[in-house]
Amino acid sequence: MKTLAAMLLIGGVACYSQDTALVQNPSARRNLSLNGPWKIIVDPYEAGYYDFHLNPIRDGGLGANKSPAGKSDRLELTFLPNAPTLQVPGDWNTQKPELLWYEGTIWYQREFNYVKKPGRRLFLWFGAANYQAIVYLNGQKLGRHEGGFTPFQFEVTGAIRDGANAVVVKVDDQRHPDAVPPAMTDWWNYGGLTRDVKLIDVPETFIQDYFVQLAKGSLNRIAGWVRLDGPRKRQKVAVHIPESGASTTVETDDNGFARFALDAALTPWSPENPKLYDVSVEAESDRVHDRIGFRTIETSGQKILLNGKPVFLRGVSIHAEAPFRAGRVFSEADARVLLTWARELGCNFVRLAHYPHDEVMTRMADQMGLLVWSEIPVYWAVQWQNPAVYANAERQLTEMITRDHNRASIIFWSMANETPLGDARLKFIAALAAKARELDSTRLITAATLPHYADPATIMVDDPLGQHLDVLGCNEYIGWYDGPPAKADTISFRTVYDKPMVVSEFGGAAAFGRHGDEDTAWTEEFQANVYRHQIPMLRRIPFLQGMTAWILMDFRCPRRFLPGIQDYYNRKGLISDRGEKKQAYYILRDYYQSLAAAK
Ligand code: GCU
Repeated sequence: MKTLAAMLLIGGVACYSQDTALVQNPSARRNLSLNGPWKIIVDPYEAGYYDFHLNPIRDGGLGANKSPAGKSDRLELTFLPNAPTLQVPGDWNTQKPELLWYEGTIWYQREFNYVKKPGRRLFLWFGAANYQAIVYLNGQKLGRHEGGFTPFQFEVTGAIRDGANAVVVKVDDQRHPDAVPPAMTDWWNYGGLTRDVKLIDVPETFIQDYFVQLAKGSLNRIAGWVRLDGPRKRQKVAVHIPESGASTTVETDDNGFARFALDAALTPWSPENPKLYDVSVEAESDRVHDRIGFRTIETSGQKILLNGKPVFLRGVSIHAEAPFRAGRVFSEADARVLLTWARELGCNFVRLAHYPHDEVMTRMADQMGLLVWSEIPVYWAVQWQNPAVYANAERQLTEMITRDHNRASIIFWSMANETPLGDARLKFIAALAAKARELDSTRLITAATLPHYADPATIMVDDPLGQHLDVLGCNEYIGWYDGPPAKADTISFRTVYDKPMVVSEFGGAAAFGRHGDEDTAWTEEFQANVYRHQIPMLRRIPFLQGMTAWILMDFRCPRRFLPGIQDYYNRKGLISDRGEKKQAYYILRDYYQSLAAAK
């Protein structure tokens, strides 16, 4: 039987012509950064793309990047020298007050000079663009990408000019019911070229991708692969881990592909000792260097084993909301602040919700020794029966795994969050889980599900999706959306699965500095009381192997209106958006520190 994805391709998803064989580790390649100020045109009516009868403008409209020919030229679709600018990377909402609430199209234009060199190939690479991007180079349409949180690229070897070049990108962040995520979410729809933009410069035949990880269940056997892209497919490729003295050489096949295995005496990567190794992959025509940690992650019954030993995941959830300044996270500085707060909270684990975060976060987690849950935004009410929606979700999954499959910190690939029961949903997410296992058999597959009551005192974790997962994720808000905080004292959890569970969301809200007795909602005392009752309840769950409080820091959200309390922020943070620690922060910190000390 044809897979769901294959059927979709026949279903005319061909319009997405971007090059999905992403170049692994672009920062380690020769590249020209196109970050900085880009000219912009705010175009709510998409008049730069469609004519007045809503037909796409034949010559590409603004994408054609035309300039007035002379003083009498009445050209309107053009980027004049005095065009306003926006910084890239960065969302547009936090850069100009008039764009805070803007959802629609903004055109970006960037000019740059380039000296072409023979025997090189060039890829125009985007870390992410929210939500839909149509990309043009020197007036030529390269293609489009859908999905706001994963990288994409176009090969431009033939399109680049020697000398002056211009990139134009139409970015549209309008929400749609058939999108991934769908129109209703609980976070701010930050739009724009939110991550780095680079022109990657590689040899004619280059190392397109590599996977260097420990074989499942082994602490000294590395099993990986390498793929070359270009005319010289058959080459000798050496993989070196100098510090361990291990290396091997293999020969790629006619498709430029080779698997390899080598034994190495390695110090396993762990939160206590996040050991990273210099790894180089050297083909005859290209070489790439990376920093990689080696650890194993498995389940055994209802236990999670890290490097063969049971581990309890002391976690917190994080949105890619920048501390202090708000807006999308894109810098090492942002990542360091958020992950340092998580560390100080006593965490060894973070759930990066609800979409793939910037690579700066996962590489920082590698360095800081934080285990990671990485997720695609199959969130709430997705159109399960729409094949194009599945293709979009599967592509985002593939891009997420391809980008980060060498990150030791990532132990979970999460397929979805809080999705309603139903056959179409089950088929959809089960197919994603199968695809994830096909792409990466070394990590664990999970999803955040919604529990239900078997009786007033018993929560049953039996979502049919559980059969397709390695680790059950369960979101519960006992004490906030579900009864008073003390209700937790009466609740026990059961499951039908012989699998470990992570409570992937729990908690309550408070506005920092708002005080009262513990029964007064929105006060720090109320939030603290929720945690005080949650922790003993969670400790009583026999198959609980991890927990991630919702959430590390208050984050912007258009669904949270209460003036003087929420002000369009979700206030479930343990820390305010200005870095102020709430009472509940110290309750969870003390608990996590006691767990760490007891180990
Ligand atoms: C949900 C959801 C989150 C949301 C949270 C909340 O469980 O997964 O995205 O922000 O609840 O209501 O605060």
